[in-house]
Amino acid sequence: MTDWLGLSGRSAVVTGAGSGIGQGCALALARAGVTVWALDRDETALAATSQEAAAGGLAITSLACDVTDVHSVSTAAVTTGAVDILVNAAGIGHPGALLDVSSDDWQRVLDINLTGYLTTTQAFAPAMVERGSGALVHIASISSRNPQPGSGAYSASKAGVALLSQQLAYELGPSGVRSNTVSPGLVRTPMTEAYYQAPGVAERRDAAIPLRRVAHAEDIADVVVFLASDRARYVTGADITVDGGFATTLMGTVPRPGYDR
Ligand SMILES: NC(=O)c1ccc[n+]([C@@H]2O[C@H](COP(=O)([O-])OP(=O)(O)OC[C@H]3O[C@@H](n4cnc5c(N)ncnc54)[C@H](O)[C@@H]3O)[C@@H](O)[C@H]2O)c1
Repeated sequence: MTDWLGLSGRSAVVTGAGSGIGQGCALALARAGVTVWALDRDETALAATSQEAAAGGLAITSLACDVTDVHSVSTAAVTTGAVDILVNAAGIGHPGALLDVSSDDWQRVLDINLTGYLTTTQAFAPAMVERGSGALVHIASISSRNPQPGSGAYSASKAGVALLSQQLAYELGPSGVRSNTVSPGLVRTPMTEAYYQAPGVAERRDAAIPLRRVAHAEDIADVVVFLASDRARYVTGADITVDGGFATTLMGTVPRPGYDR
């Protein structure tokens, strides 16, 4: 079947496209025939995404943009003009317990991970509303529902993304614009690579997941591409967990005599 997704000829903006999941989304959308604008504050990283695209015979246009800077985002929106798809993936983590996190660190995480998603939506969604169609896909996390020790503001920011997306789905649904989240579990990307350098971590993480492996960015990107396509035309306000089953394993963490495997 050719072009099952029906994305050929569409256009997309992907934030955080210089690395990891955002880069994976930009490449996967380009492979599906989408004209992609790759946004990131890191120009060196953007060059790597363009190179990777070129090596695969794909064209991706890079735009330096900081999602915490309203002017930078609105300038990017003028450059791209109206697009059909917005993927919000730019994000950071910051370690630290909540009683210790400084207000500056708390604010920085929320500014990028939550307010940044709103700022880009405010810049790119009005043109979708005007056209009567569009798809917003926000990268959240299983951290939005599962507290994680030492995660600082991260989990709170991702919980905010979950409701931001549902709120957008409610508000923009009548205009034909859909909004959904994808919640990855453990994904090996530059953000998390340092963990895997510690001895035994990769093996233990693989073993903790029912599908027995940590995700690659492409695992997340394929679901983003589906949600961005008309194949998901009746899906809005939804979240798809993409974690190899990891979030279902809570009951396996406690002893249960007589039921040991
Ligand atoms: N890696 C994981 O295990 C994992 C799991 C769940 C969710 N996520 C989420 O997926 C998204 C992507 O994470 P990743 O693992 O690919 O991280 P990554 O660090 O590899 O990539 C994030 C990109 O965002 C960019 N960025 C950061 N702040 C920015 C800003 N202010 N403006 C523009 N660009 C900015 C960075 O330059 C970087 O290129 C994040 O929202 C993250 O929270 C990641």
